[in-house]
Amino acid sequence: MADILKYIDQNKSRYEEELKAFLRIPSISTSPEHKDEVRRCAEFVRDELGRIGLNNIKIYETAGHPVVYGERLDGGKDAPTVLFYGHYDVQPVDPLDLWTNPPFEPTIIGDNIYARGSVDDKGQVWLQLKAIEAHLKTSGVLPVNVKVIIEGEEEIGSPNLDKFLSDYQELLACDTVLISDTPMFGYDLPSLCYGLRGLCYMQVEVTGPNRDLHSGFFGGAVENPINALAVMISKLKDSKGKILIDSFYDNVLPITETERKEYLKLPFDRNAFMKDLETDATPGEEGYGELERMWARPTLDCNGIWGGFTGEGAKTVLPSKAFAKISMRLVPNQTPLDIAAKFEAFFNKIKPAGVTIKVIDLHGGMPAMTPIDSAGMTAARKAMKEVFGKEPFLTREGGSIPIVNSFSQILGAPTVLMGFGLPDQNAHSPNEKMNLKNFHRGIKCGALFYQNLV
Ligand code: BES
Ligand code: MN
Ligand code: MN
Repeated sequence: MADILKYIDQNKSRYEEELKAFLRIPSISTSPEHKDEVRRCAEFVRDELGRIGLNNIKIYETAGHPVVYGERLDGGKDAPTVLFYGHYDVQPVDPLDLWTNPPFEPTIIGDNIYARGSVDDKGQVWLQLKAIEAHLKTSGVLPVNVKVIIEGEEEIGSPNLDKFLSDYQELLACDTVLISDTPMFGYDLPSLCYGLRGLCYMQVEVTGPNRDLHSGFFGGAVENPINALAVMISKLKDSKGKILIDSFYDNVLPITETERKEYLKLPFDRNAFMKDLETDATPGEEGYGELERMWARPTLDCNGIWGGFTGEGAKTVLPSKAFAKISMRLVPNQTPLDIAAKFEAFFNKIKPAGVTIKVIDLHGGMPAMTPIDSAGMTAARKAMKEVFGKEPFLTREGGSIPIVNSFSQILGAPTVLMGFGLPDQNAHSPNEKMNLKNFHRGIKCGALFYQNLV
């Protein structure tokens, strides 16, 4: 054990150089212009799986971007099998002018490496691959069976991964899934995450008169779709932050007393939180604390709204159309399909006369809860304690990794969410960064995790 930790310490600069090469590939999954770069990234991952010593490596085609697979079945039939999952795709980089360094030219400043994908999820994929490599380069074998899938469509909701899991159930059979794609509670506050929210992402198109109109000539006798949309949006929540869509809360799993107490013990600092965001309040659903609201309660937010004249100067016009993108974060046991139907029905109910509406379901993802007492969780807890010198907190997170639910539904395996991001990592934002000390601590945690499973 000492050997492997020493090996990891001795290879720090190599790990960082390799990560830079991974980060230089602009694998933006949502952007059709980047399709070839996404594939190049899959090939880069495939080659790396070979270099670290995995077998049976293959790029699997899907209806979208490919999945990369590799395995090492050293443990034998009686040993546990871990399926490590991560994603090599990244979010778009706009607004580009807010980046201090170009997003695909990884730059180390102080303890951080800055680049799109540095923490979400390339840095965290890399640290887990290095953990596997460390075993293979020191003792030549892994203590358990390890299978690896790295996909290229997580940031667009993993639309083809369920089919991949169903088609290759036997290949992917495992006892536990391991994912590093979540943040820790703070720099010296390791945490293991046992719950993720789901997502229901909708678009609303409102049409008033059949064409744009002179606002003087027609104003006063026609419905304005922007005004109508604003009124409809204002009816989605009350002044206490409660969502008013009919039956919205029907399947919401209540926060338990134990969870409440545990969250209160976490060192959440409201003032530091507000200071970091340069804001003066933390509004939200009445009766719940910030962590409860961000992790364990559903939300509804506009992501974008547009229509009419938005250029410079003034144009007196009544627009024909208005649009909004509205998403809801879901909690167990809400489902995106059910919530999408309720959302559409509510909009139809509150729609004023004089406009028509079109409601589109853009995409969704299931929320997930994972058992906190599985063999994998115990191994992860021990690994984090050994590396960080303290017990990890048990947290939930507000973000979504829709495939976690599928791992339990399709493969029947519980997931361990052992992440090494930090709250200030700027995932999906300009200047995304990964703390390199955490990157190296993560490699050690990954290596010890396999050790602790046997
Ligand atoms: N790594 C994140 C998920 C995440 C974010 C977990 C914050 C915990 C805290 C993942 O890459 C992600 O961004 N997921 C999307 C999913 C969506 C596109 C279906 C998300 O949460 O918006
Ligand atoms: Mn991610
Ligand atoms: Mn992401």
